[in-house]
Amino acid sequence: MIIAIDGPAGSGKSTIAKLLAKKLGYTYIDTGAMYRALALKIIKLNIDPQNEEEVIKVLENTQINLTDDKVFLDSEDVSQFIRTEEVGNVASVIARYKKVREFMVNKQREIGKASKNAVIEGRDAGTKIFPDADLKIFMTASPEVRSQRRVNQLKEKGFTVDYNHILQKIIERDKMDYERKESPLRPTPDYITIDTTDKTVDEILRYIESLIKR
Ligand code: DC
Repeated sequence: MIIAIDGPAGSGKSTIAKLLAKKLGYTYIDTGAMYRALALKIIKLNIDPQNEEEVIKVLENTQINLTDDKVFLDSEDVSQFIRTEEVGNVASVIARYKKVREFMVNKQREIGKASKNAVIEGRDAGTKIFPDADLKIFMTASPEVRSQRRVNQLKEKGFTVDYNHILQKIIERDKMDYERKESPLRPTPDYITIDTTDKTVDEILRYIESLIKR
C-alpha cells in the first residue's frame, strides 16, 4: 500500500507522514530531504542556484540516498544539516529544474517499489511519483499558521527567528512551488484535502486511519 501525503511547507505533512509510517510499520519516504541534500551541496560549492546548467553539472556527479529517516549525500549522512531556511529556499529554486525532478522522481519510485508499503511525503508524491497511490492526502493550513509552526520549530532548535520574515519566505516558497512549470504543487480531484489549521496531530492521524480502513 502506498500512501501519498502532499502539501506546502509547514502544512504538517512531515509530522503526520512520519508518525503514520511508524504506526503502520511502513517505510517513510521524505522526498523533500532529497531536494534539500542537493541544495546543501549547491550552497557548499558556492554555486548560484539560479544557474540551471551549473546545478545540473553538480547533479550529474551526485549520489543521494534515503534510509527511513536519514538522507545521504555522496555517502555522507547530512540529515542534521538540511533543516535550515536557507537550504529550504535553495531546494525550492532547484526543484523547478526538469532534470533535477527526473533524477529525484526515479530514485523515489525505486525506493517506494522496493518497500511495498510506504508513506511518501512531498509536493508531487501522488501526482507524479505514484499517481496510482492507494490513498492521496493533501494537507493545508493558512500561511500564518504554517509560519507560526516554523517559528516554533526553529525556536525549539535554539534559532532566533522573526515571524514576519518566515511568513514572507513561506509566501515566496508557496509561489515557487505552486507556479513552477514542472510538477506544480496542486492536488488532483482524487486527493482528500485536510485543513490542519485547527486540528491536533491525533485527530489527523485518526482521520487518515479511518480512510485506510474504508
Ligand atoms: O518539504 P520540504 O520543505 O523539505 O521541501 C523543500 C523544497 O523541496 C520545497 O520548497 C520544494 C521542494 N520539493 C519538491 O519540489 N518536491 C518534492 N516532492 C519535495 C520537495
